[in-house]
Amino acid sequence: MIRRGAPLAGLAMAAFAFGVPASGQTASPAPADTSPATPSSVANPATWPAIRSPVREDPAIEGKITQLIARMSLEQKVGQIVQGDIASITPDDVRKYQLGSVFNGGNSDPGGKYNAPAKDWLALADAFWDASTSDDPNLPRIPAIWGIDAVHGHSNIVGATLFPHNVGLGAMRDPALMRRIGEVTAVEMRVTGIDWTFAPTIAVVRDDRWGRSYEGFGEVPEIAASYAGALVKGLQGKVGARDWLKGPHVIATAKHFLGDGGTRDGKDQGNAQVTEAQLRDLFAPPYEAAIKAGVQSIMISFSSWNGRKMTGNRSLLTGVVKDRWNFDGFLVSDWNAHAQVEGCTASDCPQAILAGLDLYMAPDSWKGIWESTLREVKAGTIPMSRLDDAVRRILRVKFRAGIFDAKRPSERAYAGQYDQLGSPDHRAVARQAVRESLVLLKNAGSLLPLKAGANILVAGDGADNVAKQAGGWTLSWQGTGTLPSDFPNATSIWRGIENEVKAAGGKASLSVDGQFATKPDAAIVVFGENPYAEFQGDRSDVAFDDPATVDTLATMKRLKAAGVPVVAVFLSGRPLWVNPYLNASDAFVAAWLPGSEGEGIADLLFGKADFRGKLPFSWPKRPDQAPLNVGDPGYDPLFAYGFGLTTRDKGDLAALPEDRGTLKGDRNVLFARGKPTNGRRFLFGTEAALAADPDPALISARSADRGAQEDSIRIAWTGKASATAALIGEPVDLTREANGDVALVIDLKVDAAPTAPVLLGGRDVTARLTALAASKQWGQIAVPLRCLVGTPLDRVAQPLTLTTAGHLDLTVSAIRFASPPEGVVDCR
Ligand code: BGC
Ligand code: BGC
Repeated sequence: MIRRGAPLAGLAMAAFAFGVPASGQTASPAPADTSPATPSSVANPATWPAIRSPVREDPAIEGKITQLIARMSLEQKVGQIVQGDIASITPDDVRKYQLGSVFNGGNSDPGGKYNAPAKDWLALADAFWDASTSDDPNLPRIPAIWGIDAVHGHSNIVGATLFPHNVGLGAMRDPALMRRIGEVTAVEMRVTGIDWTFAPTIAVVRDDRWGRSYEGFGEVPEIAASYAGALVKGLQGKVGARDWLKGPHVIATAKHFLGDGGTRDGKDQGNAQVTEAQLRDLFAPPYEAAIKAGVQSIMISFSSWNGRKMTGNRSLLTGVVKDRWNFDGFLVSDWNAHAQVEGCTASDCPQAILAGLDLYMAPDSWKGIWESTLREVKAGTIPMSRLDDAVRRILRVKFRAGIFDAKRPSERAYAGQYDQLGSPDHRAVARQAVRESLVLLKNAGSLLPLKAGANILVAGDGADNVAKQAGGWTLSWQGTGTLPSDFPNATSIWRGIENEVKAAGGKASLSVDGQFATKPDAAIVVFGENPYAEFQGDRSDVAFDDPATVDTLATMKRLKAAGVPVVAVFLSGRPLWVNPYLNASDAFVAAWLPGSEGEGIADLLFGKADFRGKLPFSWPKRPDQAPLNVGDPGYDPLFAYGFGLTTRDKGDLAALPEDRGTLKGDRNVLFARGKPTNGRRFLFGTEAALAADPDPALISARSADRGAQEDSIRIAWTGKASATAALIGEPVDLTREANGDVALVIDLKVDAAPTAPVLLGGRDVTARLTALAASKQWGQIAVPLRCLVGTPLDRVAQPLTLTTAGHLDLTVSAIRFASPPEGVVDCR
């Protein structure tokens, strides 16, 4: 039975499921959950374990901070607790507002170039540092630091070593290797002069529909708890050592506190509806480990606990983290997360600081936050003592990290040593991680390992596609929009196979759709999810929707029918329902998002090493099987948590049911394959009177073909009145999507140009439609969500309305929320 609508009912039991045997047996039943009727969002810190960081407060440092704080101006203090994104702040701003830090979001790069060379990053690091240290003799000198998402290696930088995303690392169960990964990442960061990473993510992922599932190490806390300390030590160094936080090391961040992976239905930035005991026992253990390893900053989650935003939760931020856990580093918020706190806006949120936050991540809102905070301290809304405490924490970390004595970023150890980026040593660590992270799910007739001396065909849209094997948070936020040439130090899976086969005297050929002239001895088909990040990866179910333009399943079936044994290599950020693909292949490898080292995959396929990866997440038997976690009552996965074959195991698998059922699909898709999704439908008519059946006097609608039969809709306006085509459905909250780059994107062909102005969501799109009509081609039109007018963004029931009083004829093949492509209609 699937417990829909009761997402986290299994939590209390799963908390007892540590050390679940590798066979994935269900843990023995635990005591019934004794949750109160009304879930509270106020924690009782006394019921949390008391922990202590091994880092002792240093009286000398504390004395220096006291002296500094006495000399700092109020503006300078406020500047320490605000950070802006490099896309919205200049070195001059940093000088003028005396900001204590800057950061870059996934889409922010020097000069706005997603593939800016490493030297540009270093130069910009110098520029910000210079601006923060320019000498005003009347004020103390407090250098700024720079934070970045080095989440799977220094992954914003061209040429950096790209490690597997955390989901794959979770499969390794190898804390020692995690430490090495942290060390390598820190050195590569130092090359570019950046001193602080927003990593590790130590989320415990309870619902794989979550678009950030791949950022977590597993579905129960054991893996993250065993990794957090190792990774923090790798990044920051060993507490007490001379090079702790310095030299080859950086400042780390444990994120996102707390329960980010426990939100209802796996909705990003959603609400974790769990008891305090569940919150503590399931999600907190990795934080305890990180603190015990000396982590110096913690990022607060966007999400809510029992309906209340974490960023404003004093009982957890101050009560648990600072008081109960004795954490003396600083708490940083997530990207404009303060704006979501009850009663706050992006430019005004004393509530967060009063709750215990120390540093606002205020990408484009930094100036407003700076001004309102200044005002509120003056007015006494924010007590000076709270401001001083936040400043003290930030300065403490800066002192510990040697920031006051350090030279310019470019003059520090490792800076400018560009050959460290993707160096052979570093890549060897990543290749080892790939080898350890692959999980073998099926191996009928012991097909694997293959013989390298054989004739091997490589197919699938993931075969020669480094961006796809690297996933989100790679050069760009979503990991999309890159070119093969952006990955000079990476080997695609195809290249890895080719190298291995050629070296053994075999023959390898690449054919994305699996065509061949001479029948190969075996085919390797590489396919899977395309890159995504955060809420853009949220799904309504866990069925795999193949985004490839070639039909991967048909390719596999064709090969099999021709008598060619098929090895499936599946790239994904989470386990997904892939029964048809399991049936169509002889061997099936879950390769996750392996990063830059395609050779690591070849190593296992050809037997240089055996598989040892074990599932960090349970694998679904049905498309609607989410949440699915070990320890759940009635736990019934296809492959249990901890499952993973070696080539010595018997790997046959009986044929699986292929019925997909009625599914909703991707949450960000509004219309695809000829149909509105997620319970939406089209209505037509005048804005005042919309109906399912169009009135032919006003507007007509019928199915049309683009790539397949009836995969599109053709809508024609008659010009007789102001007529609207609207897509309606359950109201959705798009506040978050609107706070960023996300747009409403429509794939369409304009069959007859508009004869009067056309409004899309209240924005004039006439010029764009006219241009598309002239081109006679399929194209796109996109409007950023923040530009849509008329509807409150937290309750959008009509995400699309297209209105004109003239003639217009167009065919739409897809509508979705996505990063804006070229041709976006902006509202600025
Ligand atoms: C993400 C964080 C990230 C931050 C800065 C946020 O949207 O949730 O994980 O560190 O942006 O890029
Ligand atoms: C991400 C940033 C990204 C931004 C784009 C945020 O949620 O964390 O890294 O650049 O959205 O709007």
